[in-house]
Amino acid sequence: MKIGILGLGKLGEALVSGLLSSEVAQKSDLSATTRTDESAKNSSKRLGIQVHTDNSKCVSESDVVILSVKPYQAEEVLKQVSGHFKKNALLISVCASITNRQLSEFSGGKIAVIRAMPNTPSVIREGMTVFAPGQSASDAHIKTASRLFAAVGRVTTVDEKLMDGVTGLSGCGPAYGYLIIEALSEAGVKVGIPREKATLLAAQTLLGAAKMVLERGEHPASLKDEVTTPAGCTIDGLMALEEGKLRVTLIKAVLAATKRSEKLRD
Ligand SMILES: NC(=O)c1ccc[n+]([C@@H]2O[C@H](COP(=O)([O-])OP(=O)(O)OC[C@H]3O[C@@H](n4cnc5c(N)ncnc54)[C@H](OP(=O)(O)O)[C@@H]3O)[C@@H](O)[C@H]2O)c1
Repeated sequence: MKIGILGLGKLGEALVSGLLSSEVAQKSDLSATTRTDESAKNSSKRLGIQVHTDNSKCVSESDVVILSVKPYQAEEVLKQVSGHFKKNALLISVCASITNRQLSEFSGGKIAVIRAMPNTPSVIREGMTVFAPGQSASDAHIKTASRLFAAVGRVTTVDEKLMDGVTGLSGCGPAYGYLIIEALSEAGVKVGIPREKATLLAAQTLLGAAKMVLERGEHPASLKDEVTTPAGCTIDGLMALEEGKLRVTLIKAVLAATKRSEKLRD
C-alpha cells in the first residue's frame, strides 16, 4: 500500500518516523510533499523517503493520502489534486477543524474521507489519534486508518461533532503536559533538586500516573485517594493546587482551544 503525505511538516514527520520505526511502512511505501524545494530536500535527507513539491504526482501514486498542510491551505491543495486520486483512494485529513463535508467537496466527492486528529507524541509511538469517519468511509477504510495510526500510538473514533473538543484536549494536550512538567521541574529546583534530576522526576511521575490510569482502568480520583494519606504531605500539595484553581484552569484551557479550533474554519 502506497501512502502519500501532502504537507510534510512537524506532524507529518512525526507520523513518518513512527510508521518507519514500527515497520508498518517501508521507506519505499512512503512519499510526501512540501511547499518549497528547500523543505523537500531537508525532509528527504532527514527521513530517507521521497519528498518533492508535486502534490498531484504524490496523490496519483498513493492508495492512502494523508493531508497535513495547515487548515487554511487544505482547500487550495485538495482542489489542486482533486482530479488525480486513484479510484479507491482513501483521504485522511489531520487538518484541525476541516470537516468531512469540506474534505469531500474539496477533493471532488468521489473518494472516501476520514477526518483525524493525531498529536505529536506519535513520533515516539505514544500518540493519540482520534478519527471521525466520513459517510463515504467503509469499515475497511476505518481499519486501514486505524492500522496506520495505531503504529504510532492509541486510536479511537468519535462522532464528528466532538472533533473540535478532541483538538482542544488531545491535539493541543501535549503542550499542556510540557507546561506542567516544566512547572514541576522548576518546583524541584526551588526545593534544591538539580534541574536535570528535577525534570526527570517530574516527567517520569506524570508518565507513571498516566500509565496507572490507562492500565488499571480506575477513576483518576480513586488513584489520587490512594496517594493521599490522612494528615500526610500530598493533601497539603493538593490544597495548594485547589487554591490555585488548577482543575478549572485546565478545563478553561481545553475550552479555549476548542473554541479556537471552531474558528479556524472561518
Ligand atoms: N503540530 C501538531 O501538534 C498537530 C496536531 C494535530 C494536528 N495537526 C494538524 O496538522 C497539520 C500540519 O501541522 P504542522 O504542525 O505539521 O504544520 P507545519 O509544520 O507548518 O507543516 C505544514 C507543511 O505543509 C507544507 N505545505 C504548505 N503548503 C503546501 C502546499 N501547497 N503543498 C504541499 N505542502 C505544503 C509545508 O511546506 P514548507 O515547509 O515548504 O512550507 C509544511 O511542510 C495542521 O493542519 C494541523 O492542524 C497538528
